[in-house]
Amino acid sequence: MEIRKIGVVGLGAMGAGIAQLCVEAGVETVGREVTAELGERARDRIAHFLTRKVEKGQLGEPERDTAVGRLSLTTDVGDLADCDLVIEAIVEELGPKQELFAELDRLTRPDAVLATNTSAFSVTEIASATTRPERVVGMHFFNPAPLMPLVEIVRAELTADEPFETAYAFGERIGKTPIRCHDTPGFVVNRVLIPLLNDCVRVLDEARVTPEDLDTGLKNGAGWPMGPCTLVDLVGIDVHVHASDALYEKTREPRMAPPPRLVAMRNAGLLGRKSGRGFYRYGAEG
Ligand code: 3HC
Repeated sequence: MEIRKIGVVGLGAMGAGIAQLCVEAGVETVGREVTAELGERARDRIAHFLTRKVEKGQLGEPERDTAVGRLSLTTDVGDLADCDLVIEAIVEELGPKQELFAELDRLTRPDAVLATNTSAFSVTEIASATTRPERVVGMHFFNPAPLMPLVEIVRAELTADEPFETAYAFGERIGKTPIRCHDTPGFVVNRVLIPLLNDCVRVLDEARVTPEDLDTGLKNGAGWPMGPCTLVDLVGIDVHVHASDALYEKTREPRMAPPPRLVAMRNAGLLGRKSGRGFYRYGAEG
């Protein structure tokens, strides 16, 4: 199925990144946020990163303007009615996701593909809120979405071949490297990465190493592009704790459970870059 128009629901860091990829790839994109102000904020964020590309000579100014112009904003889910593919990137809570999918099911064309960017929930459970679970897939992007090449294309229990391959092809079209997998807790990368990052946080206390030294260790001793503390700050302490809780609930493997130190940070509002403080402190830009 050819994707001519795409909807992105939720324009936070992930949704805005996904919308950026779509408009850069020449796809007409409708972005939906709960308020016009949040939508504008996402458009500014996209324009900012594209302007950086212009400044670095990676993109022409007219191309930037055309790309930004491909994004239309709405607060009304009804405006997604004629989209060929809708990617959901709203809050990581099952109830709101299921409600949204039930609504998308009612108002989009029967042949539209509905995708979720969830990292913590079962795509099958989200799909069960619709009358067309065969057209629901996972498209799990990594943070920051415009920079991380991977997208996991997740086949839920009832996903049919055609929408699954449509999502895979769309991932390639927007410049990502897709991989195919089934709907299991953590899918592929988070199943490995989340317990690994939890181990890293536990090592902070066990080895009495500072976050700076731990980051230096993993960067220089294991070739990581950024250290684990920097990475958890980037992902968001709250997001990481939530994903760990969800994985632990499903697998009951102790390494999946969020380390108490991270839970305490989350409870204290130290959420990483977005709150200005996590393992590190960040300036106004975050
Ligand atoms: N969106 C769009 N563009 C962005 C961006 C963003 N969020 N952040 C940065 N950029 C642009 C900027 O314009 C920047 O250039 P500038 O600094 O000159 O303005 C440009 O990208 C390049 O940025 P960097 O110079 O910082 O790029 P690096 O070469 O240092 O690489 C990185 C950055 C790709 C993030 C690299 O450090 C990396 O691979 N880190 C690991 C990230 C990772 O592991 N992510 C996965 C997290 S787990 C996850 O997402 C799963 C989820 O379910 C929890």
